[in-house]
Amino acid sequence: MKKIIVENLKYKYPLTEELALKGLSFEVEQGEFIGIIGENGSGKSTLCQALTGLVPNFFKGAYGGRVLVDGLEVSKTSISELSVKVGIVFQNPFTQVTGSKLTVYEEIAFGLENMGLSREEMIERIDYSLKLLNIYKFKDRNPFDLSGGQMQRMAIASIIAMKPDIIVLDEPTSQLDPQGSEEVFKAVYDLSKEGMTVIMVEHKIEKIAQYSDRVMLLYNGEIVNFDKPVKIFSRDDLRKYGVKEPAFTEICRNLNIKNPNTGYYPITLNEAYDLVVNNNGE
Ligand SMILES: Nc1ncnc2c1ncn2[C@@H]1O[C@H](COP(=O)(O)OP(=O)(O)O)[C@@H](O)[C@H]1O
Ligand SMILES: [Mg+2]
Repeated sequence: MKKIIVENLKYKYPLTEELALKGLSFEVEQGEFIGIIGENGSGKSTLCQALTGLVPNFFKGAYGGRVLVDGLEVSKTSISELSVKVGIVFQNPFTQVTGSKLTVYEEIAFGLENMGLSREEMIERIDYSLKLLNIYKFKDRNPFDLSGGQMQRMAIASIIAMKPDIIVLDEPTSQLDPQGSEEVFKAVYDLSKEGMTVIMVEHKIEKIAQYSDRVMLLYNGEIVNFDKPVKIFSRDDLRKYGVKEPAFTEICRNLNIKNPNTGYYPITLNEAYDLVVNNNGE
């Protein structure tokens, strides 16, 4: 089932000259994990906002084309109606915190308060998302006493508790260490396997290569390529677009070690390891 349909999406912020999005078209199936990569200013955050309706309902400007989420055209749907379907985790977790809640627990509860859930259902969802993001132990802390990484986890938990059909995450692990990043990718990946559609903007290329079903490479407001990770990361012109392939892919490219089954260079550590060990073992 097509969860997202984007048709010739164009957008220009007010008082700017150049389009931030220059006619994007693509479709996403339910339960796909989509990674979005691209250099700074390529339009990743703007696209996230267009998928959640913040563009053009909140950010005005010149808008063209259509974005359909679950059959709803976002430019004609209120943000409150959309927010039940599409959750967004912003690039900076500080912008996501209400600032009015005394504890992490209340902060997560806040998003659920207007959803008409029973008390039991609310408690269940809050506990589930706090545990999923490994912050249950901080539930009684003041949100502003959290570290950047903990706050980032809280922002993700507050969206996951709302169980949106689609979750859009804009650099959600920028403040997290490798272990924390891995936990977030794994948690979101598991949710995608349960049917949640995931749109994940990240610079952590190794993780994007490992977890994405498909990867979109953006450059200067346009889609350069939207395909399986192995196809994106085997391109030899990625630097031209301000991005890199995973370290393992680069090493294997230099050693000319291809996966004989796929014909491509390996894109994950496990795949590279298997190939190198097998080659050496011959
Ligand atoms: N609020 C804004 N007002 C005007 N221009 C903006 C705004 N936000 C982003 N832009 C511009 O839109 C383009 C895409 O930016 P953005 O979507 O933030 O890229 P990315 O997330 O890939 O770094 C850039 O040229 C940026 O300067
Ligand atoms: Mg951005």
